[in-house]
Amino acid sequence: MSAVYKSLVKPLLFRLEPERAHELAIDGLAILARTPGLCSWMRAWNQLPDSSSSAVEAFGLSFPNRVGLAAGFDKNAVCWPAFEALGFGHVEIGTVTAKPQPGNLKPRMFRFPEQDALLNRMGFNNEGADAVAERLSELPGPGQRRIPLGINIGKSKVATLDEAVADYRHSFLTLADHADYLVVNVSSPNTPDLRKLQEESRLLDLLGELRRLNQERANQTDKYPIPILLKIAPDLTEPQLDAILGILIDLDLAGIIATNTTMAREGFFASINEAGGVSGKPVETMSTEIIARIHDRTGGRLPIIGVGGISSPDTAKRKIDAGATLVQIYTGMVYEGPFLAKRIARALAE
Ligand SMILES: Cc1cc2nc3c(=O)[nH]c(=O)nc-3n(C[C@H](O)[C@H](O)[C@H](O)COP(=O)(O)O)c2cc1C
Repeated sequence: MSAVYKSLVKPLLFRLEPERAHELAIDGLAILARTPGLCSWMRAWNQLPDSSSSAVEAFGLSFPNRVGLAAGFDKNAVCWPAFEALGFGHVEIGTVTAKPQPGNLKPRMFRFPEQDALLNRMGFNNEGADAVAERLSELPGPGQRRIPLGINIGKSKVATLDEAVADYRHSFLTLADHADYLVVNVSSPNTPDLRKLQEESRLLDLLGELRRLNQERANQTDKYPIPILLKIAPDLTEPQLDAILGILIDLDLAGIIATNTTMAREGFFASINEAGGVSGKPVETMSTEIIARIHDRTGGRLPIIGVGGISSPDTAKRKIDAGATLVQIYTGMVYEGPFLAKRIARALAE
């Protein structure tokens, strides 16, 4: 199937402007997601033969395999069931912000096929927490799904840094009932000041408040608290990373997602004069090294979802060997096709 994608589908998609190709893919996958018969046929075809050998437990959830879809592909939760049919073990939707927002001016997504990379400055274009919650309420919720659904939340552009906690609070309260796990995104490079939320005191305020809300919700509803994870940038210094890990351990957060796109402009990218974050191959080693450092510093106590430059079973295995429990893909799927997850999941199970 990967040969069909590479020889037929990809050349057609790559003739289009990258965001147009992305929209077409979303439209096609949304049709698949709304066609239950086709979904179950594809699910049966893409399921791993021995599901017990590929299943993993992490932060209290059960995943049928280790490979998930990274945030940013299905920002508005319009096609996530299609990824389950394609053999993914979990899907992370978003980033969703409290307020709907159009994102940055186009063009804002660029391909670099020779480098197996993308560069984007989308700027959290999404329909907002209320609209996404309404859409999610039409489908089976937590506990009724075959694969866990993560919801990634970020700061609305109009919210100042001082308003950030209230802004995330709205998204948390609106989306919590629909999430198997929640991700606090403080690491996208395309929202002004967002990465400042990775600073120790601001992060402590933000995560402390979300943890309090989570506990309060659990007490009131007799439900378990939702696992909350933090998604970090690959461009943190060692002291910054250590400070963040200290906070996550102190607050007993469920895990960490490492990493988002990079602001670094090394090698070929030194001459590319476009703002935004680079993903794909250029971020592979950076994120694997960060995963290894997190694993080392926390003695393996903090579950890690490894993401960044995974394009094959080998690149996924490197993340697992470094300490990741689960992995996610985005750019690799653009270059290798939608069956990459199944190929990696099968190889990891073996
Ligand atoms: C076009 C594009 C949009 C993205 N949007 C988001 C987003 O909204 N939220 C987020 O947390 N990460 C976002 N990401 C980052 C990915 O989730 C992932 O962390 C990063 O791309 C590294 O993985 P990859 O090399 O497999 O793409 C985006 C990535 C791309 C390429």
